[in-house]
Amino acid sequence: MAPTFDSQTLDAYVADASARIAAAGDLAALASLEAELTGRRSSLGAWHRELGGLEAEARRELGRLLNEAAGAIGVALAARRTSLSASERTARLAADRLHLDELEDLVAVAPLERGHRHLVTRTRDALEDVFVAMGFRVEEGPEVETDWYNFEALNIPPAHPSRGMHDTIYVDMGEAESIVLRTHTSPVQIRLMEAAVRDGSLPLHVVIPGRVYRRDTPDASHLVEFHQIEGLVVDKGITFADLAGTIRAFTAAYFGEDIDARLRPSYFPFTEPSAEFDITCTICRGAGCRTCSQTGWMELGGCGVVDPAVFAAVGIDPSEWSGFAFGFGIDRCAFMRHQIADVRALTDNDVRFLRQF
Ligand code: PHE
Repeated sequence: MAPTFDSQTLDAYVADASARIAAAGDLAALASLEAELTGRRSSLGAWHRELGGLEAEARRELGRLLNEAAGAIGVALAARRTSLSASERTARLAADRLHLDELEDLVAVAPLERGHRHLVTRTRDALEDVFVAMGFRVEEGPEVETDWYNFEALNIPPAHPSRGMHDTIYVDMGEAESIVLRTHTSPVQIRLMEAAVRDGSLPLHVVIPGRVYRRDTPDASHLVEFHQIEGLVVDKGITFADLAGTIRAFTAAYFGEDIDARLRPSYFPFTEPSAEFDITCTICRGAGCRTCSQTGWMELGGCGVVDPAVFAAVGIDPSEWSGFAFGFGIDRCAFMRHQIADVRALTDNDVRFLRQF
């Protein structure tokens, strides 16, 4: 059987294929062109099948030419593939590029809003300012405490009934010593007195603001996490009168001259005598209203003369030194001064509420 192709046919085929390969616009077009030019249904494929029916001489000769033609087409395909993938990659990178200088035209950029300090932080700062003006120094202490600092050194031994007033959150450390989230800022009193004894720096006139924790069920006047400010004075000849005068001066400076303070006898294991202090109700300014149960007063915190047992725990000689301490809620001050009905609003993080202050 005579062959249907010769070297001229093959040259023409390769020339045509090369031209079409060079004109392929993208990798997808090149892939289908490759199938069309070299696949089983292509002329090349048909000629290959024809070889089997040829005489040995012609088969050898045409087979060689056929392989050269296929090789030439393969080389042209590979070269085109390389150049197409390079330019497709370049195009993709160019398309992906962010034109930051044009961004303004594409999106409406919302202006950044300037925030402000949270009401509790501002209240804390304002309280610090009042006490600093009165000669106090500001100190801080850890929020995670040992039982010793939070209770024992403050004359609250294990099983003391006053521990029941503190709904303590214990931290499970898997150790013998019990670790608590401090239930009040009073443990910092102990730390500061210990430090002052260590480096002989008594007297002490400090306020200690900070976060405290109790296992309370949150309601309109309770949070699990709230803030207190503690005051501690250790000096010579300090009496209950100094405490009363300090509280009155602070109340007038922070809440206003028309707001009065009063002390009511109370009990704390770490002060003796102890008192709770009230201020004139800031809602009705003393006239009597629902918030103050018609009494005209609102409770703010606890205070008293430092108990000699506390001095003993830190190694201060009570015949030489005396002192007073007080502690009250910062969140409480904020909601009394701004007449907020529900303390939970302070932690809800609703900016519509917070923006008002
Ligand atoms: N730590 C007490 C409380 O949280 C308040 C207090 C502080 C009382 C200092 C007396 C002296 O209830």
